[in-house]
Amino acid sequence: MLTFAQIYLAMQTAAKKIQMVDLISQYEKIQTEIDAAILNVVRSSAYINGPEVKSFQAEMEKYLGIKHVIPCANGTDALQIAMMAMDLKPGDEVITADFTYVATAEVIALLGLKPVLVDVYPGTFTLNIEAVKKAITPKTKAIVPVHLFGQCAEMDELMKLAKEHSFYVFEDVAQAIGADYTYPDGKKVKAGTIGHIGCTSFFPSKNLGCYGDGGAIFTNDDEVAKKIRMIANHGQSVQYYHDVVGVNSRLDSIQAAILRIKLRHLDEYAVARQKAAAFYDKALGNHPKIKIPVRSKHSTHVFHQYTLVLEGADRDKLREHLASKDIPAMIYYPVPLHLQKAYRDPRYKEGDFPVTEHLCRSVISLPIHTELSEETQSYIVAAVLEFLK
Ligand SMILES: Cc1ncc(COP(=O)(O)O)c(C=O)c1O
Repeated sequence: MLTFAQIYLAMQTAAKKIQMVDLISQYEKIQTEIDAAILNVVRSSAYINGPEVKSFQAEMEKYLGIKHVIPCANGTDALQIAMMAMDLKPGDEVITADFTYVATAEVIALLGLKPVLVDVYPGTFTLNIEAVKKAITPKTKAIVPVHLFGQCAEMDELMKLAKEHSFYVFEDVAQAIGADYTYPDGKKVKAGTIGHIGCTSFFPSKNLGCYGDGGAIFTNDDEVAKKIRMIANHGQSVQYYHDVVGVNSRLDSIQAAILRIKLRHLDEYAVARQKAAAFYDKALGNHPKIKIPVRSKHSTHVFHQYTLVLEGADRDKLREHLASKDIPAMIYYPVPLHLQKAYRDPRYKEGDFPVTEHLCRSVISLPIHTELSEETQSYIVAAVLEFLK
């Protein structure tokens, strides 16, 4: 039988296996603060909407440079509540990217709105502006740009279109929290503060992740903020008086306490991810079968994912090869929205979104997180290059 010491050692080794995101090592560095913060909430009994939630909200507002942050239960709710707050009605068209996480399209469909899908740029994976222009109709009421993998869509172009055609912009900033967007005049703002409403997720693996589910909604508009708060709280602003149909979407106090600590580290976490990305770029950037992530001219990249596009190599076999060496790799995303069973629509068929379809066949995301060492990256890179030889 194994001794306790042997089991412990095996557990430690297992915990240090290469991860897509190493949340344990990250936690170990801030463990004292996190443990104390959790205990503090437990001892306070203010589990819902307590002072930790209020303080996190204020600190996040300051970090983003925005008037209102409304915490909620998750990023999917954030998108849904944003659309409810702007009174979008069944049949209204909402444009979004075909290449995204399903949540974006899910809430559009759930509210009876009509998702209008458009293709993305092959390099930055963000909304193709020309494709957006073609998708606009008199029924377009909103657009959801997804700042995929950690950098912003071309927000100034989208805001111009929104003004011209009178529709709302809901930024899905779940993967790009902390990124800076630079306007053509050089003005810098935080991702998620440009559109009418910004929506984010604090899912544990996100750049700013809690230890459960969490999300938030951002806006500079006082009236919209009031409405969002009301909707997120069963449609009431005075208890037991329900003015609109709402939902129950709250951020737990324990999660808020954790997020307050992690927010203080968010910029340094982005630097660690950027450093890891630069290492991969240097090691893989010259390979003829690999396209490394293209940096947008308008946005910093906070590398929620480090995603390669493979040309002339079998992506799935590479993933198997990496797995045989205990290296995880993920496919974000294997199926375009228009080919998902739940979102099949006679308006769309295979071949309609060639960039997205190609990306779904050829992207692969390598481990990237705040605790990745150069030794581990060298091992990963060597395995990738060995396969492509
Ligand atoms: C782009 C994007 N939007 C929305 C969401 C939904 O967030 P949540 O899982 O917190 O509901 C995610 C989360 O994975 C996401 O990546």
